[in-house]
Order: sequence, then structure tokens, then C-alpha cells
Amino acid sequence: MRLLLIGPPGSGKGTQAVRIGDHFGIAHISSGELLRQHVEQNTPLGRSIQAYLESGDLVPDGIVMDVLRKPVELASRQGGYILDGFPRTVAQAEAAYEVAKELDAWVQVALYLEVPRDELIGRIRARGRASGRSDDTQAVLNHRLEVFDQLTVPLLDYYAKREVLVTVDGSLPVDEVTAAVIDELTRVRPALR
Ligand code: AP5
Repeated sequence: MRLLLIGPPGSGKGTQAVRIGDHFGIAHISSGELLRQHVEQNTPLGRSIQAYLESGDLVPDGIVMDVLRKPVELASRQGGYILDGFPRTVAQAEAAYEVAKELDAWVQVALYLEVPRDELIGRIRARGRASGRSDDTQAVLNHRLEVFDQLTVPLLDYYAKREVLVTVDGSLPVDEVTAAVIDELTRVRPALR
């Protein structure tokens, strides 16, 4: 099973990806987590991308593709993956499509977690107080939301045209969102298993 998870900051991509990955026995791959690990480990790549993460801008496509290529190839050979936070732009989706062609492993479903703006802001404020993630300040969050609207929202149309887009109400409690996704993937799209 090969899934993408699309949603604005705070929509629950990370939360749901872990649960869905565990349920279906597929790898959870988070572009944001992989990039943050480089920054935390102070690798040369981490030093070159730190400013993007702190400002809420997207990291350049080539770097993101390099970081993701190996884990995605490995997971494709081992039962599949749920990819959280990639692609983020139509250009990334097109680059991913080229890699998928090489691997003969196309994306089967793009899940969109839809959540009202007020709810997103409340969740990120609460997390920022608890975790201290450097991009969870109000100013950076506003920019992350703008980036989502401008660069990521067009992806919804891109995947809808390819008939793989599934929209889920991400404003429900965590367990209910997970149940809705699992229901969609098992009952509505049984051919995926
Ligand atoms: P990334 O790590 O992907 O961050 P994000 O998209 O801003 O998303 P968040 O991690 O803030 O939220 P989430 O949707 O995962 O929600 P979560 O489950 O954590 O990206 C960070 C940065 O990396 C980007 O800004 C960019 O610089 C770079 N980057 C990453 N991918 C890139 C790419 N492809 N290209 C270029 N650059 C890239 O939940 C949030 C909070 O809400 C938590 O506290 C959680 O407990 C709570 N919560 C979750 N679900 C619910 C619920 N249903 N009800 C109530 N609370 C909930």
C-alpha cells in the first residue's frame, strides 16, 4: 500500500501517519522529521536547511528528494509506506511520479486532512507551548499556512484529476479520524490490500 498524507500544519499528518502505518504494517516516512533530524544532528545538510525550517519556507526540492529517495525505495520493496508531508508542491509531485515510474510503484491514495484554520492555530499554539518546536511561533505558523495555501493546495486538484484524492474531516477527535481513514482504505477501496 502506498499512501500520501496532505494537510496544513497542525492537521494531524504526523499523528495519523503513525497510526495508519501501524494498522496496515507499512512504513511511516515524514519529510519534516527527516529534515529536522539533520538539523538536530548538525550535519552539513542540516546546517544548509536550518534557516528554511526556522522561517517556515520549503526546503529546496532537490534536497528533499535526496533525503527521501532511499527510505521510499526501501519501503516500496517492503510492503509500502505512508508519506507524511511530501509532496508539498506540484513540482515535487511530478518529480515523485518520475521516481515512481522507475520503481513501478505509483501512489494509490492521496489523503487530505481538512481542518478549519482556527482549529489548526489552536493546536499549534498548544504544541508550541509544550514542545518548543522552533517553527511553532505565531509568526512562523502564519507563514507556514500561507505557504500551504499558495504551494500545496494546488496539489489537491492534481491528485483529484488522477482520481486518487480522498478527503477526510481532520477536525474530529484523533480516534475518529483514524477510524475514518481505515474505513475508507479497507471498505471503500478494498483493492488496495
Ligand atoms: P512538517 O514537519 O511536515 O510540518 P507541518 O506540515 O507544518 O505539520 P506539523 O508537523 O506542524 O503538523 P501535522 O499536520 O503533522 O500535525 P501533528 O500530527 O503534528 O514540515 C516542517 C518543515 O519542514 C516545513 O515547514 C518545511 O520547511 C520542511 N519540509 C517538510 N516537508 C517538506 C517538503 N516536502 N518540501 C519542502 N520542505 C519540507 O499534530 C499537531 C498537533 O495537533 C499535535 O499537538 C497533535 O497532538 C494535535 N492533534 C493532532 N490531531 C488532532 C486531532 N484530531 N484533534 C486534536 N488535536 C490533534
